[in-house]
Amino acid sequence: MPDDDKIKEAKQFHTDTPQETEGFFLKGSNSLDWGMKNRLARIFNPETGRTVMLAIDHGYFQGPTLGLERVDINILPIVPYADTLMLTRGILRTVIPPSTSKSIVLRVSGGTSILKELSNEEIAVDIEDSIRLNACAMAVQVFIGGEYEKESIINMTRMVDIGTRYGIPTLAVTAVGKDMARDARYFRLATRICAELGAHYIKSYYIEEGFETVASSCPVPIVMAGGKKIPEFDALAMAYRAVQEGAAGVDMGRNIFQSEAPVAMIQAVKAVVHQNETPEKGFELYNTLKNEG
Ligand code: R5P
Repeated sequence: MPDDDKIKEAKQFHTDTPQETEGFFLKGSNSLDWGMKNRLARIFNPETGRTVMLAIDHGYFQGPTLGLERVDINILPIVPYADTLMLTRGILRTVIPPSTSKSIVLRVSGGTSILKELSNEEIAVDIEDSIRLNACAMAVQVFIGGEYEKESIINMTRMVDIGTRYGIPTLAVTAVGKDMARDARYFRLATRICAELGAHYIKSYYIEEGFETVASSCPVPIVMAGGKKIPEFDALAMAYRAVQEGAAGVDMGRNIFQSEAPVAMIQAVKAVVHQNETPEKGFELYNTLKNEG
């Protein structure tokens, strides 16, 4: 107990200065609770409102993908340049040093493999483990138009409900089946459904025509998925167009870790995403860093 005699009289009340209430920098996130906002602010840079997420969770359904055979050797050197790591709890616990200051987006849906129907996922991680692992968000795959559309949507809404109890945001990952049209109409539908049902931010593929309508009709931030490996310049151009057309950053995997020079590539992606560098400038940076070894 403090000693009553030594407590000084409080007097600096600044009665003529109203307390400021800060608005939150992320689209659609102002009504969230403090913990949610704080976690989102560890994923998205508050200065730019954008993020470069490094996605390395592919092994959860396709095993040791090219570039991810040895996460300790291939990925750890790239980690310092990412804003956020998107990965499974298995790789997090076994390979990523707990001393990392990077925010973690934990893959929490799963249960299928490339040998069977991919949309038949369930929630594969308890909320307690996400809390234990200090996750800043939980990622759930949503298969709009897929065979198990309803189940995957309900996986997401369950995580939104459970995560809300503990202040952990949910990232809805829109997954497109092989035979489905990847166009603006589809992504407007998929992203809007996820947002309406409570996802805090959404991962969507980039499309050449109408991406800006996908971003503008979605009331929460969208991050652009990288997709299959394409030439470095093309990947930088895609990231550039996505952020210029309204994305709040990227969630990129293969176009970084399958690049000829992954450390150079992630820095070029960051320049395009956070500094609005053109694809030409980004590619120049990529080549310079690549040549420096
Ligand atoms: C796929 O479902 C995984 O969630 C990946 O995180 C996602 O595909 C992003 O990686 P990439 O840029 O390689 O497509």
